[in-house]
Amino acid sequence: MAIGYEITLLIADDSEEMRETLKTLLTFNEKIKVVGEAADGKEAVEKVEQLNPNLVLMDINMGVMGESDGIWATQEISLKHPQTGIIIISVQDEGDYMRRAMSAGARDYLVKPFDSDELFKTIETVAERERVMWGNLPATQAPVMSTEGIGRVFTIFSPKGGVGKSVITANLAVEVYKRTQKRVLVVDLDLQFGDIALILNIAPRSTIAHLAELASDQLDPDLIEEHISDSASGVRVLAAPLKPEYAEIVTPQVVSDVLKAIRNLYDYVFIDTVPSFGNEVLAAMDVSDDIFLIVAPDFLTLKNITLGLAVMETLNYPTEHIHLILNRAQSMSSVKVRDVEKGLQRKVLAEIPSDGEIVVGSINRGQPLVISHASSPVAKAIGEIADIIVTENEDEEGKVEKGSRGILGGIFGKR
Ligand SMILES: Nc1ncnc2c1ncn2[C@@H]1O[C@H](COP(=O)(O)OP(=O)(O)OP(=O)(O)O)[C@@H](O)[C@H]1O
Ligand SMILES: [Mg+2]
Repeated sequence: MAIGYEITLLIADDSEEMRETLKTLLTFNEKIKVVGEAADGKEAVEKVEQLNPNLVLMDINMGVMGESDGIWATQEISLKHPQTGIIIISVQDEGDYMRRAMSAGARDYLVKPFDSDELFKTIETVAERERVMWGNLPATQAPVMSTEGIGRVFTIFSPKGGVGKSVITANLAVEVYKRTQKRVLVVDLDLQFGDIALILNIAPRSTIAHLAELASDQLDPDLIEEHISDSASGVRVLAAPLKPEYAEIVTPQVVSDVLKAIRNLYDYVFIDTVPSFGNEVLAAMDVSDDIFLIVAPDFLTLKNITLGLAVMETLNYPTEHIHLILNRAQSMSSVKVRDVEKGLQRKVLAEIPSDGEIVVGSINRGQPLVISHASSPVAKAIGEIADIIVTENEDEEGKVEKGSRGILGGIFGKR
């Protein structure tokens, strides 16, 4: 693999012998430089703070479990230094422990005994993935959200799948259209398995994959409009590719070019996403005025939201542009809103109740729930978010206000 740069690495292992063995092995790979060692989890966290390595090789089983073990350190480093990738080292029968480490934020693992080929391959692969993820957006970069153009752009995101992103995106767009009768567009950036067409009951003939086939200087408004579909709700849709295999032609550059062109054509643009920080999603966030982060009231989602917020902070997305929406609130045995706010140290902008019959039923019938069940609590909650968007963005005559947004104020600056 052609990496062509140095990978800095910290070794965290309680056995001095193992640290020495690893160091010796790693001297045979000229791309990898060991910059430090730690004998327990606490020291690993301290050394990461001091040395800021690209990667940590972390023994999972260091000393006693708890404060200074490998899982604890993995969690600490993932939260405080998300740009440092962690590779876990474990032995065969630690499967359960290892799964916990992976869910605490480790990027990959090695099972002892491993040979030097395996060691190098894992380190290089993880380093390359990290480089792709962080490479275009170094932590020192200025805030990236660029809001030039007439329309308002919102990305609906969550680092967890199945939390209601697509349902909320489609219905929120319809609610904003109902209130304003303006030009409202949904862009489906779930490029492999987009659901927006189904939720808004359209069978698109053309999609974002067709736009991707054009050069960026050919993206004139008429051509863009040709690839956008109407829906019965009044909202228009730039649909996801019709087959998963077409997704890869929609590169981050295409996403960025298309969205920049689109924001001059539509008053409101709502972007549905996938649950990962892929470059397409980052390209969408970059051109967004605001990001709605969808939270489900369970601990796995909250863990991912915590990690996701840390990543967004590292990428310098202004926190006042990130708004939490709690979906499926009040579902049985769920975490309460005040616990969510306490855990995430942030206010929740809106709560959407759980109602499987209405939400799933409306999808099956092909009518957005805010139309088929306009007076249901779910529709009302989504309507309240639409109210906030519309009142924050339009003056009394219904014109989109120009001066109210921007990196510092945020369109929700008054909140
Ligand atoms: N408030 C709600 N009450 C009940 N069911 C809901 C609610 N919101 C979403 N759902 C259901 O949860 C499932 C996931 O919703 P949706 O597809 O919108 O999530 P997603 O975050 O877009 O998922 P993915 O990450 O797979 O794209 C769907 O079956 C949907 O009907
Ligand atoms: Mg979805």
